[in-house]
Amino acid sequence: MEKRQELYAGKAKSVFETDDPDRLILEFRDDTSAFDGKKVEQLERKGRVNNRFNAFIMNALKEAGIPVHFERLRSNTECEVKRLTMMPVECVVRNIAAGGLCRRLGVEEGIALTPPTFELFLKNDEKGDPMINESLAETFGWARREHLVRARELTFQINDILQKLFLDGNLLLVDYKLEFGLFHGEVTLGDEFSPDGCRLWDATTREKMDKDRFRQGLGGVIEAYEEVGRRIGIDFDQTID
Ligand code: CDP
Repeated sequence: MEKRQELYAGKAKSVFETDDPDRLILEFRDDTSAFDGKKVEQLERKGRVNNRFNAFIMNALKEAGIPVHFERLRSNTECEVKRLTMMPVECVVRNIAAGGLCRRLGVEEGIALTPPTFELFLKNDEKGDPMINESLAETFGWARREHLVRARELTFQINDILQKLFLDGNLLLVDYKLEFGLFHGEVTLGDEFSPDGCRLWDATTREKMDKDRFRQGLGGVIEAYEEVGRRIGIDFDQTID
């Protein structure tokens, strides 16, 4: 597949068109941002680590029957994906209270959330990704009701699969964000799954092993991502066919 012009550059990834109108290439860069892009740094190896991490998780989800846009790794920092029409909403699931939920509701960090929560946010940096709901999304045309119902159903199926996968590596999947789009009418998981978009704690010590290390200036960010990867069975040195 031939790589063509850049379509879009996000905060951590760039998206390229290809000679196939139904396929795109994602390039994972070393750029790391937080607080709506107010804190930005380059972290060595991050693009490569997140590309591998995402490939591993997407393949695990695909094997479990979840429709995902990921198709294959292309290079150390690139992968090939199906071209989706994205819904501009972010689906957040929380198994344990942390981050925005604690700030908003004043609940203590670390309490178990039973059943897990599901929240929708509008993907809009200028507006600071405001919290929305199904009704607002439908009325303003950000997503159709039946597509949101399916995205929510898939999000909880993904939660069951990934909670187990991470617990096998003695890690707690605290919360995470997913983005969905449509591929020939089918609601399909897009974007990425990496420690940039989820919270992962050591199940014994509750040490943070995700992007909160960057947000909170704790250091050892990429080392923590690599440690998480190793615990769930990722070989970061594997060559790409
Ligand atoms: O991260 P923050 O505390 O600002 O927001 P949150 O609502 O607590 O985020 C919940 C989860 O979604 C965390 O794992 C975030 O890393 C992730 N998230 C994300 O990846 N991108 C966003 N724009 C918002 C949240």
